[in-house]
Amino acid sequence: MTDQTYPPSAELVKNAHVDIAGYEKMYKASISDPETFWAEEARKRLDWIEPFSTVKNTDFTLGNVSIKWFEDGVLNVAHNCIDRHLDTRGDQTAIIFEPDEPGDEAQHITYNQLHEKVCRFANVLLAQGVMRGDRVVIYLPMIPEAAYAMLACARIGAIHSVVFAGFSPDALANRINDCEAKVVITADTAPRGGKRTALKSNTDAALLHCSDKVRCLVVKHTGDQTTWIEGRDVDVKAMMEDVAPDCPARPMNAEDPLFILYTSGSTGKPKGVVHSSGGYLLYAGMTQQLTFDYHDGDVFWCGADVGWVTGHTYILYGPLVNGATTLMFEGVPTYPDASRFWQVIEKHGVNQFYTAPTAIRALMGAGDTFVDGFEMPSLKVLGTVGEPINPEAWNWYNDKIGKGRLPIVDTWWQTETGGHMITPLPGATPTKPGSATLPFFGVQPVVLEPTSGEEIEETKCEGVLAIKDSWPGQMRTVWGDHERFEKTYFSDYKGYYFAGDGCRRDEDGYYWITGRVDDVINVSGHRMGTAEVESALVAHSKVAEAAVVGYPHDVKGQGIYCYVTLMNSEEPSDELKKELRDWVRTEIGPIASPDLIQWAPGLPKTRSGKIMRRILRKIAENDYGALGDTSTLADPSVVDDLIENRMNR
Ligand code: WT7
Repeated sequence: MTDQTYPPSAELVKNAHVDIAGYEKMYKASISDPETFWAEEARKRLDWIEPFSTVKNTDFTLGNVSIKWFEDGVLNVAHNCIDRHLDTRGDQTAIIFEPDEPGDEAQHITYNQLHEKVCRFANVLLAQGVMRGDRVVIYLPMIPEAAYAMLACARIGAIHSVVFAGFSPDALANRINDCEAKVVITADTAPRGGKRTALKSNTDAALLHCSDKVRCLVVKHTGDQTTWIEGRDVDVKAMMEDVAPDCPARPMNAEDPLFILYTSGSTGKPKGVVHSSGGYLLYAGMTQQLTFDYHDGDVFWCGADVGWVTGHTYILYGPLVNGATTLMFEGVPTYPDASRFWQVIEKHGVNQFYTAPTAIRALMGAGDTFVDGFEMPSLKVLGTVGEPINPEAWNWYNDKIGKGRLPIVDTWWQTETGGHMITPLPGATPTKPGSATLPFFGVQPVVLEPTSGEEIEETKCEGVLAIKDSWPGQMRTVWGDHERFEKTYFSDYKGYYFAGDGCRRDEDGYYWITGRVDDVINVSGHRMGTAEVESALVAHSKVAEAAVVGYPHDVKGQGIYCYVTLMNSEEPSDELKKELRDWVRTEIGPIASPDLIQWAPGLPKTRSGKIMRRILRKIAENDYGALGDTSTLADPSVVDDLIENRMNR
């Protein structure tokens, strides 16, 4: 992007947890003797009920993949995030809740209050028969109860699976069924950007496709009217009043699953990514503190949704295990107008702010009048995550929000990695706009030659990104399908964890992520398998076939481009396009809404019937010069038709 380097300011270096020399020394130690390094961190950062005697027991060999950290250690995640802070910071704010409407009062929830709420919520779950190891699906908006519910599960050893509140009833039902949840927790309705989503009625619709044993816990958040099924639906807030205010934190094994989070891959069915209790929590806390250079008393704001891993790790577990004050925002960046983020930062004195390039681009597009006049003197560190950040967005973030004086940490990681993998540290790493820079402690990135899978030794190179050895925050398995775990991440490049991203390494050893190399697209920082959108489209009775690819989109990063072949009897029309768009929104959710639909009388296929997406991607990108060899196609003329009729040329 640019080779301009931004070194950390002298002031930052002086006060930072880690400086340049510290980074190099610690990084070396973490690689040369991971056992000693992680044992020390785990003892220092977590409270253990039973100490661990082994640190690392991991194997990346296909057929034998197994990831275990601190395997005989016993701890409780909720105790680590709440109880152990009560003596020293019981009256400190743990969570600041900023509601959707700026006129509504913000809540400041102290660690003492958080303790009571979580205990009560845990007792509600116990009263519903939720036991250790049971799955609890959480379909809630960004409200404090989402945090209470997650921590309540952790307290009693239940495994939570948060489903983003923007997902459709079908998507919710699939997840409830895949993990065989005993309970689903939802809210009546969810205000967001001045509109309301009917979560309870979505849940009602989902539960029609689930076992009738699933109980439905409802948080009456707005008080909006909903249907109520006696014997199945439970009023959580009312019941929290009736149960005891205390609940013991259950001793859990470090390797017991803490949560499942579904994420898209290159096949149609989302995978249940399983994270552990001990290793995950350690990694969440350590990265939250060091990547953002978080200090006691700071106010930390991660603008993601708890429905994504970013929210799990950097709204909830990372900050709370460190005894931090974390901000939870119910709304959207553009409501009531595009200055909302900056208002919230000034209102609550936010010190570290973490968001995604897509949000930055949207706010940049709204015009500078919305940010001019905001000084935001409290800010110390800015973060970005989700996709490579383009120069315009980086410069705007740096000039307008950072006032040219703040470090920007561009953090590369994934749902699967639990926490940051490649990232600058504010007081240690000179940054280069567009580069996620250098690996976090314990992380050994390698660049592989894509076809041979050979590790490239030269510093300056390009290839696919893989990780050589395990780190504590790594996912442990795919829920119910360990074979799929091995196949997805360990079979393309033997002996490595393969992330699915391409990357470039420059002469200084800095990593530049170039994007996914599989059929996964990144739309507004949301990850989506093109196969998922395709299966939704072909499920429509008028669609014969569909192929979906990403294309460059100014705000979203990538947009969803769909090639659709209709059933013989169907006539293409704009109404039908709208019908298909609405259909995908109901099947998956608004985030999967097609941006462009092109009618395709035929799709380019090989003689063996495989759709050549490479060609479809090029057409969607308006890059016809680079179509490559089309002679292997069963019918090369379909390509001419697609080019002829490309959308919005
Ligand atoms: C994919 C993971 C866990 C963070 C939220 C997304 C892309 C993520 C960056 C970055 C370039 C990035 C990758 C990755 N990605 N962060 N800083 N620079 N690309 O999590 O939904 O699991 O998606 O997001 O392609 O594989 P996710």
